[in-house]
Amino acid sequence: MAKKRILSGMRPTGKLHIGHYVGALENWIKLQDEYESFHLIADYHVLTTKLETNDIYQDSIDMLIDWLAAGLDPVKSPMFRQSKIKEHTELHLLFSMLITVNRLERNPTLKDQIRDLNIEQVIYGHLGYPVLQSADILLYKGNAVPVGDDQVPHIEISREIARRFNNQYGNVFPEPEPLLTQFARLPGLDGGAKMSKSLNNTILLSDSPEVVKSKLKKAVTDPNKIRKGDPGNPDICLVFAYHKKFNDAEVQEIDSGCRSGALGCVDCKMRCAAKISLMLEPIIERRKYYEQRMDEVEDILRQGEQRAKLVAEETMAEVRDKMKLG
Ligand code: TRP
Repeated sequence: MAKKRILSGMRPTGKLHIGHYVGALENWIKLQDEYESFHLIADYHVLTTKLETNDIYQDSIDMLIDWLAAGLDPVKSPMFRQSKIKEHTELHLLFSMLITVNRLERNPTLKDQIRDLNIEQVIYGHLGYPVLQSADILLYKGNAVPVGDDQVPHIEISREIARRFNNQYGNVFPEPEPLLTQFARLPGLDGGAKMSKSLNNTILLSDSPEVVKSKLKKAVTDPNKIRKGDPGNPDICLVFAYHKKFNDAEVQEIDSGCRSGALGCVDCKMRCAAKISLMLEPIIERRKYYEQRMDEVEDILRQGEQRAKLVAEETMAEVRDKMKLG
């Protein structure tokens, strides 16, 4: 039986952080044997938050290198830019007929974005964001979409669009399922719920051990634990959240050391930094390899785009045929 297919993507905002890794990338890497995986650089979607495009190519390449460095295998999984496959725009347009404005206005991520980014004028691109994302997924007939929990409302919209299309014109699309990770979200270094470049609270996958240490030194911890000896509450501490993810073996001891006061925040942070850097070490090594071989990186992208294009053309031919469009 043919393998099920994954389609997932990220907006190219430059170098990735450990929140991207934990929320999605780690999962992509685990799943690439079990599924046929397609990974998309969403360079149309990124325009919804950044109209200025001078860095768009470099940001895409930086992200691609992080994907490769983290362990995505370009032989198994094509990686490609959305803007290179024009079928995305065509399917987006057709899908825009199959969903109401009202439904899109109820999309909770739209409301979050308006609030978080202080958007005063909502452009059409914001409203249509999940319609384009549906085209991304369904163009490759994605069965599963490994993403962070914030993307689940978009997958729901793509399921609705797939159903609508299939009922109206005949069966073409599967209804995609979200695949979530256990640690769907890492808090930011400022203690905020989310790590995000625009909030400037990230640890990058490319950060050296020195940088990780200095970033963690400044991280916010339990405000009631001022010096070593004071009892702390790990449940509200972002450093503890990182220990839970990256330092499974010591997490019990850190929990009780923090609560009793025996473990000070500086020690706790340095132990955490060491574990994060241990995890990052092979990623940084592989990043160096690719940075020195830009021809190979560009080749990976070209080949990914060729493979994606074949699938996209095939799906669009089927869509036009069912819709009796030229
Ligand atoms: N909206 C996703 C994000 O911000 C990026 C994305 C674009 C995507 N197209 C996709 C994710 C298709 C999964 C599938 O993270």
